[in-house]
Amino acid sequence: MTTPRHPRVLSGVQPTGALHLGNYLGALVKFTRLQHEMETFIFVADLHAITQWQDPKLLKSQVREIAAAYLAAGLDPKIATIFPQSAVPEHAELAWVFNCVARLGWLDRMTQFKDKAGKHKERESVGLYTYPVLQAADILIYKATHVPVGEDQKQHLELTRDIAQKFNHDFDVPDFFPQPEAVIEGPGARIMSLRDGTSKMSKSDPSDYSRINLTDDADAILQKVRKARTDPEPLPETLEELKARPEAQNLVGIYAALDGRTSADVLTEFAGVGFGTFKPRLADLAVAKLGPVGEAMRRYMSDPAEIDRILTAGAARAREVAAPTLAEVKSIVGYWAG
Ligand code: TRP
Repeated sequence: MTTPRHPRVLSGVQPTGALHLGNYLGALVKFTRLQHEMETFIFVADLHAITQWQDPKLLKSQVREIAAAYLAAGLDPKIATIFPQSAVPEHAELAWVFNCVARLGWLDRMTQFKDKAGKHKERESVGLYTYPVLQAADILIYKATHVPVGEDQKQHLELTRDIAQKFNHDFDVPDFFPQPEAVIEGPGARIMSLRDGTSKMSKSDPSDYSRINLTDDADAILQKVRKARTDPEPLPETLEELKARPEAQNLVGIYAALDGRTSADVLTEFAGVGFGTFKPRLADLAVAKLGPVGEAMRRYMSDPAEIDRILTAGAARAREVAAPTLAEVKSIVGYWAG
């Protein structure tokens, strides 16, 4: 290890589509917990959002909606710094330098680009291609050490470390940028689709029955849990026996994450119980836990001026940290304006 660093958390969510239970347990709850352990920066990734077409008339309100979800989940603007990415221009400026550090061969390997671009990559924006370079800038402009993200972002974190290392090496500034780590584990790490226990719960799944949205009302939650795919067997006694039953495993995992317990603990309570009994219990728990979050979100959304005040103050705080890093980078690189 190099010199010990001040631990710092950074993460962000794109303002593209409604948030669901997977985002809530896998990201928002994790951010909320981490804010009490380390200095925390959480942003809304509107620069990343426009790598694919976004209606300019909707983008600002989508940013506010993510901010409302952060606040509803318990992020406290007195403790954590919450801001829109586009309000801190240092991200984009550092991304340009990193575009000149990262190698084409590194980006060619990024699986998320391949997944998003599909067969017609020549029709995608150049921004979508360099998306992970901007992500590295988001993280390293704050010299963040801990990045809570989903499993699918592991590769982008590896790229971030490669960029940090190459920058430090090429410009002979050992330890200037840290080697940030992904924080992946936790009860909500893998929340799967309610229709298919082998694919991740996703905003882009065409079936709304595949996910529970943070803004779903009690009726919708009950319906979706009732219709969730399962098998006819009762719940087993051990985790081992759940492994071959992805849908059952997912519902037990959701129950555990919502209740702040382990899946093993949930099985101890429900072993031998069928889904006819388990599903209503899960639905009640989901309504009890998510109802207040959805309500708080709606309350924040009804006062956009308050959200804007929080985001503006957050951006000012973020810039206090980002600006000195960028100034140093400019001087290291040898910019005329450095
Ligand atoms: N790419 C991330 C996602 O889709 C969002 C993101 C952008 C992000 N910049 C980041 C996450 C920096 C963590 C750190 O989930």
